[in-house]
Amino acid sequence: MSQKKPYIIAVIGKGGSGKSVFCAISIMIIANMKRFKLFAVDADPTHSHLSDLLDVKIDKSLEAIRKEIIKTAAQGRESGKIKLAEDIDYLVYNAIVENKDFSLLAVGLPEGPGCFCPANSLLKKVISSISLDFDIVLIDCEAGLEQISREVISNVDTIIIISDISVRSIETAKTLLQNSKKFTKYKHIGIVVNRVRGDISYLRKKINDMNIPIFGEIPEDDNVIKLDIEGKSMRNLSFDTSIYKSIEKIIQKVLDFMYH
Ligand SMILES: Nc1ncnc2c1ncn2[C@@H]1O[C@H](COP(=O)(O)OP(=O)(O)OP(=O)(O)O)[C@@H](O)[C@H]1O
Ligand SMILES: [Mg+2]
Repeated sequence: MSQKKPYIIAVIGKGGSGKSVFCAISIMIIANMKRFKLFAVDADPTHSHLSDLLDVKIDKSLEAIRKEIIKTAAQGRESGKIKLAEDIDYLVYNAIVENKDFSLLAVGLPEGPGCFCPANSLLKKVISSISLDFDIVLIDCEAGLEQISREVISNVDTIIIISDISVRSIETAKTLLQNSKKFTKYKHIGIVVNRVRGDISYLRKKINDMNIPIFGEIPEDDNVIKLDIEGKSMRNLSFDTSIYKSIEKIIQKVLDFMYH
C-alpha cells in the first residue's frame, strides 16, 4: 500500500444539478488516462445510481458491510472486537468493485428509520484509510449539507460545485460554498455550470459576485438526454461529444491543481 495521500475531489451541488452524470463522465476520462489508481465513491445514499451510469454491478454496499460489522461485534467477546476493528478495512474492501481502470464503492441506503450519521462516519473512515491505496478519490456526494457539515469530506483537496443554470441552483451553490469554507480544508473550490443553453451572462455575473471561479461550463447535451430516456449508461457516450470534451477540460484543470 502506498502511504502517499491521495488527491481527493468531492462533487457537490443541488439535487438534480448533474453531479452523477459529471462524476460518471469524469471517471471515464480519468480511467482512460491509465495513469492513476482511481477510487470512485457513490456517497449518495438516496439517489445512488453512479454504478448504473458506469455499467458497474454493485453486489454489496458500504451499508451492508456496516450491518455485518455491527452483527459480528454484538456477538463477539472483547478480544474479538479488537480483531474486528483491525478487520474493518478488510471487510470494506469486500464492498469495493474493482474495474479494469477504477474501483467503485457505493454507500447504499440504511434500512429503517434513523439518521445517516453512523453511515457517514464509516464513510469518513473509509475516505481517510482505504483511499490511501489510491492516487485519486472522486466522491459523488449527496445533495444537501449533511456530508459537508458532518465533516465527512473535510480532508478534500478540490471541491466542485455543480449548478444548473437556474438562479435557485446558484443560491444553493452559495450556501454550499459558505459551508465548505466552514467545515472543510479544501485547497481549491469552483463552480461548474451544467446544462448550459442560451445566454447565461446573468449567471456568470452572479457567480462572479460570489467570488468563486467557474471551473467550466457544460452544455445541455441531447446524447445524455437520449441515454437517460433509454436507461443506458454514460459508457455509450462518444468521446467526441461536446459534453465529454467540456468535462475533459475541467478534469485537466483539476489535475493541474494536483501537480502544483
Ligand atoms: N449536461 C447535461 N445535458 C443533458 N442532461 C443532463 C446533463 N447533465 C445532467 N443531465 C440529466 O439531468 C438529470 C439529473 O442528473 P444527475 O442524476 O447527474 O443529477 P444529480 O445532481 O446527481 O442528482 P441527485 O441529486 O438526485 O443525485 C438526469 O436525468 C441527467 O441525465
Ligand atoms: Mg446523483
